[in-house]
Amino acid sequence: NPLQGAQFTLAAHRVRQLPADEGAEVAFAGRSNAGKSSALNALTGHRGLARTSKTPGRTQQMVSFALPPLAQGEGESPLEARLIDLPGYGYAKVPEELREHWKLEIDAYLHHRASLRGVVLIADIRHPLKEFDRMMLEFCFTTGLPCHLLLTKADKLSRGQATQALAAMRKSFRDGLHATAQVFSSTAGTGVEEARTRVVELLRT
Ligand code: GTP
Ligand code: MG
Repeated sequence: NPLQGAQFTLAAHRVRQLPADEGAEVAFAGRSNAGKSSALNALTGHRGLARTSKTPGRTQQMVSFALPPLAQGEGESPLEARLIDLPGYGYAKVPEELREHWKLEIDAYLHHRASLRGVVLIADIRHPLKEFDRMMLEFCFTTGLPCHLLLTKADKLSRGQATQALAAMRKSFRDGLHATAQVFSSTAGTGVEEARTRVVELLRT
């Protein structure tokens, strides 16, 4: 597992508190309670790495995890890589001011973070994409930022239903969108290998 050995670096309330904008990073985004932190743990193979919770609104900071340096081509030095767990979006019980704060910070992060190589967007496979998810895909479409969509909690559906949901999702992508999508489940381990491969690919972009 190339994502094994990830380590917590810091939790930031603002973009400028994040680690130096060097190397490569991939951000985990999605609505509150979608399963971002759980996906991060499944991918790194480290159960307790990112804090998860039944209560939406658990992650209230931008949390940075350092990966072991990724080997690159011959003659190139290893790539410094990070994963960033973004605060969940759209949870009504989070105070309005804080929601506004994260809206602005996530926006600033996406627009100005030079080391950002791609976004892993996490959405519940049982529900249609919500406004935040569609905005994120639209942002990726306009800026050309690659995006990988994890349709998670697939353990809640039959295999047939999950495959259908994935096909419908792919069909809904507009032409020119640099997005890929897959079925995923943090609890059942579905699609974990595929997602790891994609994250490494994004980091190396
Ligand atoms: P916030 O930090 O609050 O934005 O949430 P999050 O997106 O990080 O979600 P988190 O990983 O904390 O998971 C939210 C809830 O969904 C927890 O109760 C998890 O156990 C559950 N969950 C996450 N992934 C899966 C999955 O693949 N299958 C099932 N059945 N439950 C999941
Ligand atoms: Mg979280």
